[in-house]
Amino acid sequence: MFRRQILKSIGVAGLALATGISAASAQEVVKVGLILPMTGPSASTGRQIEAGVRLWMAQNGTTVAGKKIELIIKDDTGAADQSKRLATELVVNDKVAFLAGFGLTPLALAVGPVASQAKVPAVIMAAGTSTIVASSPYFVRTSFTLPQNTAPMAQWSAANGIKTVVTLVSDYGPGLDSEKAFKAEFEGKGGKVLETLRAPLMNPEFAAFLQKAKDLKPDALFLFVPSGQGASLMKQVGERELAKAGIKIIGTGDVTDDDQLNGMGDALIGMITSHNYSAAHDSPENKAYVAAFLKANNNMRPNFMSVGGFDGMAAIYKALEKTKGDTDGTKLVEAMKGLAWVSPRGPMSIDATTRDITQNVYVREVKKVDGQLYNVEFATIANVKGSN
Ligand code: PHB
Repeated sequence: MFRRQILKSIGVAGLALATGISAASAQEVVKVGLILPMTGPSASTGRQIEAGVRLWMAQNGTTVAGKKIELIIKDDTGAADQSKRLATELVVNDKVAFLAGFGLTPLALAVGPVASQAKVPAVIMAAGTSTIVASSPYFVRTSFTLPQNTAPMAQWSAANGIKTVVTLVSDYGPGLDSEKAFKAEFEGKGGKVLETLRAPLMNPEFAAFLQKAKDLKPDALFLFVPSGQGASLMKQVGERELAKAGIKIIGTGDVTDDDQLNGMGDALIGMITSHNYSAAHDSPENKAYVAAFLKANNNMRPNFMSVGGFDGMAAIYKALEKTKGDTDGTKLVEAMKGLAWVSPRGPMSIDATTRDITQNVYVREVKKVDGQLYNVEFATIANVKGSN
């Protein structure tokens, strides 16, 4: 009774103080606007990245340099016009200090001009076309690039008796990057790419392309499709019986995505891919990451998208620590340049000149471990740059 009277007499400002919600502390919130495909064909990317971001926050707290971190998640459904509209709203209405996410290359590219104009850092947690980061001085990448992840596959092929290859990729930025990197590296080492096939990104029907590849009788078929399409591609590869025809199936790790791999069947055992992350990566950091991720997400296995989110949040926290909580966008991007740490994927850094990711790339083989399919790493190419 007495307390209530006092509160009444000191008014609204006093009430806020008495309950600990001062006007000053309301300004101490740093908002992170996470734009992801939470529905539509790339929904698994959104789900994995959100889980990675939330795990980082659960393990590292929600206060950085005295500021409270608030996450705002928006679903762009995988449509670039939506990504751009949501980025604009997040900047103008919510006054976010960071934009982040971007599940596909066109979605990231659509946000670049918004980040540049608003001078707000935009952390790319998924998209992998090499040129994206150069399109805005406010882009920083914690995912991967396709040239980075592809070149080791071409090197391995040339060194392991493969002389002729047909490539089949999704017909957009990362696919074209992957095709180009494979051809340049493989032919530079004396191999021959017989044909470069490109399937549409949306609702792809792979059968005709796979038949064409089979008819060309290469030593190997190299594949790239974005996260979420690997299972349907590999089902059609199985139906065409390419392996029976003596054609080795190789690709980037996007195809043998940890999100889907275990359901793809034992026909994949022995498939070689190269990539920046495997849930089977053998390090104490990754063992802890996978265990915590499985526990927090009803046993969903983390894939490479999840670490893009986890490490993207790491970059955001580390930048704020460096600026001592200053949210000036230009200072935050400066602070991210040159950051280096050990991720669940292995050592990684943000190149101080390009703002792109430098990381190890691993050559892996699909194996059965404790009854489950995994990409087991057997060779490491250290510190590969994302772009030049
Ligand atoms: C992309 O659109 O840049 C992208 C998406 C998913 C991947 C790789 C690249 O697995």
